[in-house]
Amino acid sequence: MLKQDVNEMLTQTGPATPMGDMFRQYWLPALLADELPEPGCPPVRVKLLSERMIAFRDSDGKLGLIDEFCAHRGASLWFGNNEQAAEGPGLRCAYHGWKYATDGSCVEVPSEPENSAFCTKVKLTAYPLVQVGDILWTYMGDPDKQPPLPEYEFARVPSDQTFTSKRWQECNWLQALEGGIDSSHVSWLHSGGLKSDPLFKGSKGNQYNLNDMRPYFEVVEADGGLLVGVRRNAEEDSYYWRITPWVMPAFTIVPPRADHPVHGHFWVPIDDENCWVFSFDYQPVRALTESEVEHMRAGMGVHNEYEPGTYRPLQNKDNDYLMDRDAQRSGETFSGIKGIAMQDASLQESMGPIVDRTKERLVSADSGIIKARRKLQQAAIALRDEGRTPPGVDPAHQRVRSVAVVLPKDASFAEECREALTAVPGTAHTTV
Ligand code: FES
Ligand SMILES: [Fe+2]
Repeated sequence: MLKQDVNEMLTQTGPATPMGDMFRQYWLPALLADELPEPGCPPVRVKLLSERMIAFRDSDGKLGLIDEFCAHRGASLWFGNNEQAAEGPGLRCAYHGWKYATDGSCVEVPSEPENSAFCTKVKLTAYPLVQVGDILWTYMGDPDKQPPLPEYEFARVPSDQTFTSKRWQECNWLQALEGGIDSSHVSWLHSGGLKSDPLFKGSKGNQYNLNDMRPYFEVVEADGGLLVGVRRNAEEDSYYWRITPWVMPAFTIVPPRADHPVHGHFWVPIDDENCWVFSFDYQPVRALTESEVEHMRAGMGVHNEYEPGTYRPLQNKDNDYLMDRDAQRSGETFSGIKGIAMQDASLQESMGPIVDRTKERLVSADSGIIKARRKLQQAAIALRDEGRTPPGVDPAHQRVRSVAVVLPKDASFAEECREALTAVPGTAHTTV
């Protein structure tokens, strides 16, 4: 349970809020790289942390993320013309033709006399936009404190080893993130998927997962956030451990299953009632197979199908996520909803846009969530009151891996898995 003011603090990420300031310390996924596929392509609307912006790739190939609204009289630059090489790079407002560069500076005000310097005084808010892996990342904080580029392994392996999708989720970022930390729901909500999904099925670990419905949680501090260890019975003398790293503020990796690609998520606030879920799948040492990528594109694993031409899932709250009571009754799926991603989204959205945490009743299996909230709150306060950089900004904190492992009963997962929990390029991950 949280007090109302703490719930507000953790869930509000607009400008000049403590959690909003904290998010503005990090590089955040803004777009998939293929949303701006080539120089001079159409601009794209982007809303992050309650700020409305336009992303574009100018005719020179430069990337920019600028205020959505023209400095003249506020028309949306989404209607603007991303001018081609012959006209010179820049985005020209469709209303009166003011033209902007990728850094937000105004380069032309056509109504002004030819030798007027007026436009040099006009500049829109702009943030850097940089491709790392399949993602265009932005940093929305103080330019003087811009950290090094992100080093999450999924974004750093060769492109044929990784796949990322994104979907719009209609609720606050924190209740979505909490689903990524709370691995106790997997044995229930996702039990059907463990048996049938081609990107999950067939691992020995799945059996341990399904045979022990009372997992024991051990949550350990890490430099960048937490390691959420979940222990289930394996054999007579051993336990099956699944270890989920959470890197602050919004990155989680699911422990692997056999040789399937490893997946995880980035939960990015759009505004206080919506978030983007960037979902990735990667292999540290081998290319993804054609059939794996086909399944990901088809919406299996942690991915999903879409309403055509959008990032809104095909299964959404307007159609009750295409819930199938027969599938629920027969046990084919625990909730009657198809697909891991939509199973999560349906229940998280069902809580309302911002869940009222003053009313919840937490149990010991929620210890990961409890610790994560406390860390977020402490880090936001330390930043606000002392200017302290929060955990997870340092790229070293981002070089983490998830682990699935069988250990002797008396072993400590944090000690045994120290190396396995660190991403080292060119080495295989630890999986069961
Ligand atoms: S509103 Fe953009 S040029 Fe006038
Ligand atoms: Fe889930």
